[in-house]
Amino acid sequence: MSQTLLRGRTLSFLRWPEEKEDQAAYRYEEDGGLLFEDGRIVAAGHYGEVAARAAPDAKRIEHRPHLMLPGFIDAHVHFPQMQVIASYGAELLEWLNTYTFPEETKFRDAQHGRRIARLFLDEVVRHGTTTVAAYCSVHKQSAEAFFAESHAHNMLNIAGKVMMDRNAPEALRDTPQSSYDDTRSLIAEWHGKGRQLYAITPRFAITSSPDQMEMAGALAREFPDLHIQTHLSENHAEIEFTQELYPWSRDYTDVYEHYGLLRERALFGHCIHLSEREADALSTSGAVAVFCPTSNLFLGSGLFDYHRYRLREKPLRLASATDVGGGTNYSMLRTMDEAYKVIALQGEKLNPFASFWQITRGNAESLSIAERVGTLDVGTDADVVVLDAGATPAMRLRLETVKTLAEELFLLQTLGDDRSVVEVYVAGERAKSMLA
Ligand code: GUN
Ligand code: ZN
Repeated sequence: MSQTLLRGRTLSFLRWPEEKEDQAAYRYEEDGGLLFEDGRIVAAGHYGEVAARAAPDAKRIEHRPHLMLPGFIDAHVHFPQMQVIASYGAELLEWLNTYTFPEETKFRDAQHGRRIARLFLDEVVRHGTTTVAAYCSVHKQSAEAFFAESHAHNMLNIAGKVMMDRNAPEALRDTPQSSYDDTRSLIAEWHGKGRQLYAITPRFAITSSPDQMEMAGALAREFPDLHIQTHLSENHAEIEFTQELYPWSRDYTDVYEHYGLLRERALFGHCIHLSEREADALSTSGAVAVFCPTSNLFLGSGLFDYHRYRLREKPLRLASATDVGGGTNYSMLRTMDEAYKVIALQGEKLNPFASFWQITRGNAESLSIAERVGTLDVGTDADVVVLDAGATPAMRLRLETVKTLAEELFLLQTLGDDRSVVEVYVAGERAKSMLA
């Protein structure tokens, strides 16, 4: 079997890094090697030891002095919103009605879906992201387009057709039964095909009738191992409207709880304005709160309290994400730069190791896929990003004064973007340099 041997500086995480110099939380090799075979990592560690395991005909690729990390994971993103990014001047509900819903109607056309899905996956790869949890549009064919492209890219991606049957234009509404039927048939066709994973995706409580929420709950019961993804507590007007639509509910989280949607592998985008009761309910269920800093700032939604959720008596499982097109960048580096600022506005700091833990192993653990991606462990999939902290003149100048790995990571996060991503490997194959 053909092998690929990479040489560079390797960094991967073992657990949450408590502080800036928590060296037991990560593994760093100044002269590191990674050996791939059949899309998996078969050896990792000091280059000399890894090279000794390589076949004589292994393809050898030099990445020194760059850093090799597990590929980044984006835990919440909308692929049909590539042409929604940079839409001016509205908060969530107006932004959805004015820009997002009209744009998503175009995904009735399968060819449009296929084109945007391809461009979307190329774009995330260019930014160093090798796994996304993606929302498609309401149209079954948009999910088919996404999965077909994702399969062709051989990426491990999680995605689902959004279920939405009210409070949206006619052209974007399904029905409880059609959303159930379409979801079932997409699961049958795509879940577990190659590296594809299906997520049951009721868009949010506002765009689903109680009957459709029942159907989402039925799907969740029938497929206990699948991901679920939706939005929760992003914006004050959204919270109030939800309360009007579900007057019996104790709070917004209670709506999802009532329909059986709170559990492990359930990913709740935003979670900005949660009460203690809601945070307790999420924590107890093992559900995940997904922090989308660029989106939360752009739409003026509010400040996600990362450390409160992490340090409370019943901690939340946390993930981080771009939320393109409410989010304003495809880069997880840019995302964590904004995360740092959101956290700073609340009087706290996020150390650079914790930041890079979050977008690799942390997101993988929260998405329950750490057995497969998010580390450089032997036996996991060979999804790797190669980073250059001196990618631009300004970065090179700042790099002259950098003395520690923590400082280098912080520079990458603060000034880095797609230009810092030298190469990306998806299932062991070069992916970024193969793009046009
Ligand atoms: N809530 C429901 N749909 C959406 C969406 O597309 N983006 C964001 N940011 N919030 C949502
Ligand atoms: Zn979203």
